[in-house]
Amino acid sequence: MLKLSRRLIGLSLLFCFVLTPLSATLAADFKREVIYQIITDRFFDGSTSNNNPSQSSGLYDSTKTNWRAYWGGDLAGIQQKMSYLAGMGVTAIWISPPVDNLNTNIPDGSGNPTASYHGYQARDFKRIEEHFGNSSNSWTEFDNLVTAAHANGIKVIVDFAPNHSTQNNAGEFGALYDNGALLGNFTSDTNGYFHHNANISGGGWDDRYQAQYFTLFDLADINQQHPTMDAYLKAAAQLFQQHGVDGFRIDAIKHLNWGWQYSLANSIYTFGDSFLFGEWFQGTTSDPLYRDSYKYANKSGISMLDFPLNTAIRNVFGNNANFSQIDSVISQEGSNFTWKEDLVTFIDNHDMARFLSINNNNNRLHEALAFTLTSRGIPCIYYGTEQYLHNDTSGGTDPYNRPMMVNFSTSTTAYQVINKLSTLRRNNTAIPYGSMSQRWMNNDVYIYERKFFGNVVLVAINKNESSSYSITGLNTSLPAGSYSDYLTGSVGGFSITVNSGSGGNNPVTNFTLPAHTVSVWQFTESGGSPQVGSIGPTNGQSGVKVTIGGKNFGSTTGTVKFGTTTATVNSWTPTHIVATTPSVTNGNYSVTVTNSGGQVSNPIQYTVLTAKLIPITFTVNNASPTSVGDYIFLTGNTVELGKWSTTWDGAVGPLLTPNYPNWFNVVSVAAGQTIQFKFIKIAANGSVTWEAGSNHTYTVPTSGTGSVNVNWQY
Ligand code: NOJ
Ligand code: NOJ
Repeated sequence: MLKLSRRLIGLSLLFCFVLTPLSATLAADFKREVIYQIITDRFFDGSTSNNNPSQSSGLYDSTKTNWRAYWGGDLAGIQQKMSYLAGMGVTAIWISPPVDNLNTNIPDGSGNPTASYHGYQARDFKRIEEHFGNSSNSWTEFDNLVTAAHANGIKVIVDFAPNHSTQNNAGEFGALYDNGALLGNFTSDTNGYFHHNANISGGGWDDRYQAQYFTLFDLADINQQHPTMDAYLKAAAQLFQQHGVDGFRIDAIKHLNWGWQYSLANSIYTFGDSFLFGEWFQGTTSDPLYRDSYKYANKSGISMLDFPLNTAIRNVFGNNANFSQIDSVISQEGSNFTWKEDLVTFIDNHDMARFLSINNNNNRLHEALAFTLTSRGIPCIYYGTEQYLHNDTSGGTDPYNRPMMVNFSTSTTAYQVINKLSTLRRNNTAIPYGSMSQRWMNNDVYIYERKFFGNVVLVAINKNESSSYSITGLNTSLPAGSYSDYLTGSVGGFSITVNSGSGGNNPVTNFTLPAHTVSVWQFTESGGSPQVGSIGPTNGQSGVKVTIGGKNFGSTTGTVKFGTTTATVNSWTPTHIVATTPSVTNGNYSVTVTNSGGQVSNPIQYTVLTAKLIPITFTVNNASPTSVGDYIFLTGNTVELGKWSTTWDGAVGPLLTPNYPNWFNVVSVAAGQTIQFKFIKIAANGSVTWEAGSNHTYTVPTSGTGSVNVNWQY
């Protein structure tokens, strides 16, 4: 009897597994996805019943002439367009923040009413906005959307904006609710839930302290180190996971306490499978905080939107700059970001003019699209791009970059190109996991190769509107043979012949690359050893589940090793393995896959954390003297503290000094552990000075937040 019921349970579990659509799992490898970014209010009005809800009436404009009012788009509307999205090859949607937002109108400077239709003024992170769902702010429509998306093989990413609540000086004065219960507001903030600093301005945007602790555009700046806020925001993120979301786009990560975010990520990954990327707004790789941005991406477990590449894409395709701009961003970032293929790439978004507003040329848009979909990183397409949507009022910047979708045609060239290249991303591992190298380049022409072991994709783009180029001396790793254009000529492509050569340099028979053309040639190898291209999350403590993506794992379960330690395997398919982080000493590990035939894969880097992370404020007093360009850093005995590293990239920091000569940083460290640490000075010339005395020690609490305050030892 017992045996029989066990069997039945086993069977039903098996059924669950078989019936669960792939999209509901394995979010941790997002590289095979194509993301589509939606401003929910501006996509499709699926239900008129929520257009003018009673608790926030008057924020809706049925005439769609006030660009800062709600226009009716909602979660039901996205749900109704699911087959349109799936037909385009979209495999993930990023929706604007769906949580309950400001209920009042706040006039803009010129007296026009403005509403928080975009979602970036949350009042309750645990309820759904009534304009997007229903008048009781329940989760029904959100859940329906997630179910429909998953049934169509589409993952759901929620925009999460924990930096702030609503405007601090008007409307609801920052009032925050916990599932309907008032927590507090900015004006009578007796609990210290908010920071009360001035707006970020001028040089403050690049000042580490101001950027994180000052106020973003009058928005009440949440103090995430307050234990109530810390718990509230982490619980809200977990609620979204319980409602089935596959990932989070984290708003304004440059302006949120950086160290705290490591513990947010850890809390999400400890709960379950997810993919996180943040918005670190920056122009180029010469940005003053660029180094901080990749240090954060390499250590926090949170990837980011690729803003430097976005700038280059807009310059090159929009303003006709030389392709070398793109090429140098790709290589610079390639040497800085550990998991560069996780960067999320894009042509435009809701905070900048749409591409066609800067250059109203569909050829160029197709070229930029094809580039984004085949180059390194996870492509994200802004809603309407496939319908050539744009409004050029005031240069097409916010809010004119957020028009209502009007057409849903499935026959535009852009729609077809996205669909084809999404299929290629699923079928050829060179696109999600491969290296990217330039093979031929001038101002107008960029020919680049993606390569993952023997899987190769070669892409040729000529952005000149009238001149063709004759391409001579081109080499490729594609094996000898002839290749037809994967885009079947839809953007002017054609076939090429590859001849045999040596050392990965097979000469391509000379050809003419016509004006405004994109051609894509590809090869997938079969057989071979296991090839690992992805690991996610990129860090975690013992027990955290890790997804390894790649090729040739086989269908029979083999072995996963973290260093020399064999991990528990939770599931195994030819392309994806889920394994559990083993109980090993904290530190960086090479993870490898061995197939059932004993063949071993290439290694991929993963960081084993000491334990679950708790955000602690570390302060050192009287760390002086230092001169301009010298910084205080923190180092200590665990991987979270840099394992006694004394380098800029390895130690924690630079610390912040709003009250010189006292310095501090929030650092997410291992719960319940007694840690040892010291402060060091790294001088402008790179020389390192240790503080004297014995190591400081501190026992990290097992939950909440904490702080430790010591004097620099002379
Ligand atoms: C960046 C978002 O993308 C932008 O639209 C928003 O207004 C700010 N962060 C503040 O949340
Ligand atoms: C070397 C430093 O000189 C010392 O101060 C510090 O305590 C140790 N590293 C930690 O092992």
